[in-house]
This record gives sequence, C-alpha cells and structure tokens, in this order.
Amino acid sequence: MTERKKLYIATFGCQMNDYDSLTMRRLLSGTHVTVADPSEADLIIINTCSIREKAENKLYSLAGRYRALKKKRPDLKIAITGCVAQQEGRRLLDRMPYVDIVLGPQGIYSLPGILSREAAGGRVCLNRLDPDFSIPVVRAAEPPDNPVRASVTIMQGCDNFCTYCIVPYVRGREISRPEEDIMTEVRQAVEHGAREIVLLGQNVNSYGRRAGGRPVKGNPGFASLLEKVNKVPGVERLRFTTSHPRDLDEAAISCYGRLESLCEHIHLPVQSGSTAVLKRMNRHYSREEYLEKIAMLRKACPDITITTDIIVGFPGETGEDFLQTMSLLEEVRYDQIFVFKYSPRPGTPASGFDEQVAADVKTSRIEAVLRLQEKIGLEQYARMEGQICEILVEDVGKAGDGFMQGRTRGNHVVHFRGGRELLGSLVDVRIVRACKHSLRGELVQ
Ligand code: 5AD
Ligand code: SF4
Repeated sequence: MTERKKLYIATFGCQMNDYDSLTMRRLLSGTHVTVADPSEADLIIINTCSIREKAENKLYSLAGRYRALKKKRPDLKIAITGCVAQQEGRRLLDRMPYVDIVLGPQGIYSLPGILSREAAGGRVCLNRLDPDFSIPVVRAAEPPDNPVRASVTIMQGCDNFCTYCIVPYVRGREISRPEEDIMTEVRQAVEHGAREIVLLGQNVNSYGRRAGGRPVKGNPGFASLLEKVNKVPGVERLRFTTSHPRDLDEAAISCYGRLESLCEHIHLPVQSGSTAVLKRMNRHYSREEYLEKIAMLRKACPDITITTDIIVGFPGETGEDFLQTMSLLEEVRYDQIFVFKYSPRPGTPASGFDEQVAADVKTSRIEAVLRLQEKIGLEQYARMEGQICEILVEDVGKAGDGFMQGRTRGNHVVHFRGGRELLGSLVDVRIVRACKHSLRGELVQ
C-alpha cells in the first residue's frame, strides 16, 4: 500500500457533526490517516456549525490560522464542510482564496471523488440540498479509537421551522433512513466494540414520517425502532437525541422501564417556560403541554434524568416571560441544562421580529438562569450520594492521575479511581460526592 496522506479534522457543533466527521474519516481511510496536529496535515477539514453566531465565528478565526500553514506548505488542501459551508457556499471560496473545497452536509460523500480528481486542479463547492437524498452506509475499515459509545444517524434535517432555527435551511427537509441501514450500522458498531448506541436526529421522534418525499416503508415509527435496536445482542445501553416535545408520543414514553437497554435519561428541549414565547417560536406546545409530557415520563420511569435546552432573550421576551422560564426550571428540576442567548440567524423569521432584546438584558438573564440551575443541579446530583450505580467506563480521566470516567444510565458523568483495563466495561461504583456537573465515585469490588 502506498503511504497514506495525513488528515486533520476540526469539528464544531452537535453530534450530527461528530457523526459526519467520523464518516469523512471512514470515507478517506484508504488514502488518509488522521493526525492530531494540523501542522502535519496534507488535508485539513473544518466541519462547521452555524446554530449561533458564536459557533459560526469559530470558523473564521480558525481558518486564519490554517491559512498561515498553507503559506508555508502550498500543497496543503483546506476544506470547509458542515452547516456554514451549506449556508455560505461559494461565498466562502470568494472570501477565502486559500480554501480549496466547500461541502454541505450532503456533499461530504463526494469527498473521495473530489480528492482523486484533485490533480486536475480547480476549487469545488457542493451545497445543493437534495430532498430525496439518502445517507449512504459507510463501512468502517477499522474500529474508531474509542469504540465504547457509537452514534448512528436515524434521520436528518427538520420540518419544524422553529422561528429562531437555521437547521431546516442548512440540513434540509426531514429524511428518515431505512431501518435496514440503521440496523447494519448498529451491528457494525457492536462488532467494533460498542456497548452503547446513541440514535441521532434533529427530531428523532418523527422517525419514519418521511424518506425521500414519501413515508418510510410501513412507517415503523420511532418506538418500534427502539424495540429493534434494544434486541440487538451486545447493545447494553441505548440512548437517543434530540426529541421534540410535541412529537414525543406515548409509544416512545412507554419504552422507558420496558426496554432493558434504554437508559433512564431524556434530553427534552423546552426553550422557554412562557406559552406566549413558545407560540412565537412556533414550537407547537404550551408550557402546560410540556409539563404534561414530563409528568408522563416520570410516571413511566420515576428515576428518569431530564435535561433541556433554554434560549433567553428571544425577541419580545418580557421580564414576565423570563420569570416563567425561571419557574419552569424550579418545577421540572432538571439535572442539567444548556442555556443560550438568542442569536439572530440569517434568513430565519425571528431575526426579522421587532422587539429584539438588548445584549445586556440577555446577559443578565443567562446569568440568572445559570445561578438558579447551579443550585438545582447540585441538589439533583446530591440525591445520588451513597447510591451504588452501574457505570459504563468510557474514558481515562482527563487529569491523567489514575482516574477513569464513565456514565450512569441516567447520563451523570462519574470520576473514580481505577485502571485503564476497565475501559469499555460495566462496573458498580458507589457515589461519594456530587460536584457541579459530575459525580465522584468509588469502585465497588
Ligand atoms: N439562538 C440561540 N440558541 C439557539 N438554538 C438554536 N437556534 C438558536 C438561536 N438562533 C439552541 C436551541 C437548540 C440548541 C441546539 O441550540 O436551544 O435546542
Ligand atoms: Fe450546528 Fe445545527 Fe448544524 Fe448541528 S445541525 S452543526 S447544531 S447548525
């Protein structure tokens, strides 16, 4: 085999982008080996996110650094992929003369072909969104570096058109993958050592609704897919993300506590506690309807961990609306939240709404939310002290001091003293102390 070239990928954004980065590594595994240092690379890929302006800006700061590398090594290729590539397309080539390739999320599958034609020169941009696109199954030549948890995309795109969100414009209309393809990827992941499977999609609960402009054959629905993955031998833990509260139905809720591998955790983004704001966000549920879903989840699975996303400072959010979000946090008592300042995105309806909220108001609101959640989160975590929990050991501790890290079924990160040989195994750990976003535990022999 001729010597493989060196590939460096910088990934921003959500798990869909992590999945796409892994797919690109797989697509190029015959010709490229991944390196950890961009200055060694022959090909640098920046896989971008445009969900908020801050995420988008990361591309521009990083690209400047790689431009300097290319000055020293003119044969270095630079590619921009992902959501900013989709959104900006050729404008990126115009603005950044040192960039060779621009590919939207559907375009990444053409990467091997584009690189093999690279001798012909020319700069390439692929950012057309095909409504009938189907995600190919990309076989992995070798297992990933840390195979314990594997993500499998089950659907992509989104038809919800929340008024703040750019996803429908950069990831396209909702398309579900055929069940056979999903099962093939799940089985492959297990063969490569995965013990936990995470099913991915922008709106997993609408799985099966649409594929290539038509309903999926027999429309199996999300709950039926969970049942099938649950039955795959070797799948010890099953998770999914992300759910839309409106589409989370009784069939899916009833899987908790019934399917052995389905972990007791749900990420259920609420965005706001005010029904008036939810309406302007086009979320299709009220505060009360959201709380009803939470009650149903807790009835089916009393110990379930619930996490969420919150946006503060959405256009027109009054002080009273904001207090409704604060009171919702107290009512639900999430274990963890992700909170963002509203960021106007090009082409989305809310970016044109009157009554944009001033920057200093957004800042004081996000600080208030974080303060409140710090208190609630610590109390939620403290309830686990003294419990013995099953942990899937996922990684060595970051500090390199003899600690390992894993997760409970409820998705709490646990640090405990132990050896590398535990990587990938299920162990029992006694929780000794709750910290802000993690737990400290001791191995139970
Ligand atoms: N501004 C701020 N936050 C946003 N999100 C999505 N779009 C925006 C935006 N324009 C948040 C939502 C979503 C999470 C992935 O990102 O909370 O659930
Ligand atoms: Fe960011 Fe959304 Fe694209 Fe994921 S799908 S990378 S969150 S813009």
